[in-house]
Amino acid sequence: LLRPPQPRPLAGKRMLITAGPTHEPIDPVRYIANRSSGKQGFAIAAAAHAAGADVTLISGPVELDDPLGVTVKHVESARDMLRQVEATLPVDIAIFAAAVADWRVASEGEQKLKKTAAGMPPLQLVENPDILATISHRKDGRPPLVIGFAAETEHLIENAKTKIARKGCDWIVANDVSPATGVMGGDRNTVHLLTRHGENIEVDSWPVMTKEEVAVELIAHVAKTVSP
Ligand code: CTP
Ligand code: CA
Repeated sequence: LLRPPQPRPLAGKRMLITAGPTHEPIDPVRYIANRSSGKQGFAIAAAAHAAGADVTLISGPVELDDPLGVTVKHVESARDMLRQVEATLPVDIAIFAAAVADWRVASEGEQKLKKTAAGMPPLQLVENPDILATISHRKDGRPPLVIGFAAETEHLIENAKTKIARKGCDWIVANDVSPATGVMGGDRNTVHLLTRHGENIEVDSWPVMTKEEVAVELIAHVAKTVSP
């Protein structure tokens, strides 16, 4: 069968994408997690592959099939994810779509925690490494285009603007993850693309789309920027 040749604007570009939640162990049988499905990150990986990029997808635990033609590294915790991200550098473009758990328990139990008469075990939390900020702030080998996500339930644009500055990334895809939107786990997403131009931040608000459509649109913007 003859198909018309597909445009491959990202041919020859190496791209890294994080996706999904992370699982932070409490003991051998329990963990801390969140409601991320991984759908948005997986859709971005598929769109990037379709545009010709050499894609590595680093994913936390999800119930999705690996996208065809993409190198997939499966991880559990935020610390595993950071290690795999660093092992994947150098890349031309990095997109951090994962909903990384912000905290993990300070000392993971080697044995299952048991109910005791002494009461409930206190769970001491410590902050996880910030993968996006770590990569954005690298002196050596920072990818030329670093894109983060901002998951917010209020003050979306304001929080996303603060986040782009704090993280040191170039673009942020801001999305409202309030329960009423159904974004977490759902198939649709309403996003705003924030792009940093020196001191200025431009905000481009997109209509509600499927996560596949958001992915294709984002990759089209990436392609326009890296190979205009
Ligand atoms: N991120 C990351 N590593 C973390 C936390 C977040 O790489 N430990 C990335 C996410 O993949 C996303 C961006 O940072 O691209 C913003 O994530 P978000 O949870 O919205 O922001 P936080 O900085 O964690 O702030 P908060 O959750 O308090 O809003
Ligand atoms: Ca967070």
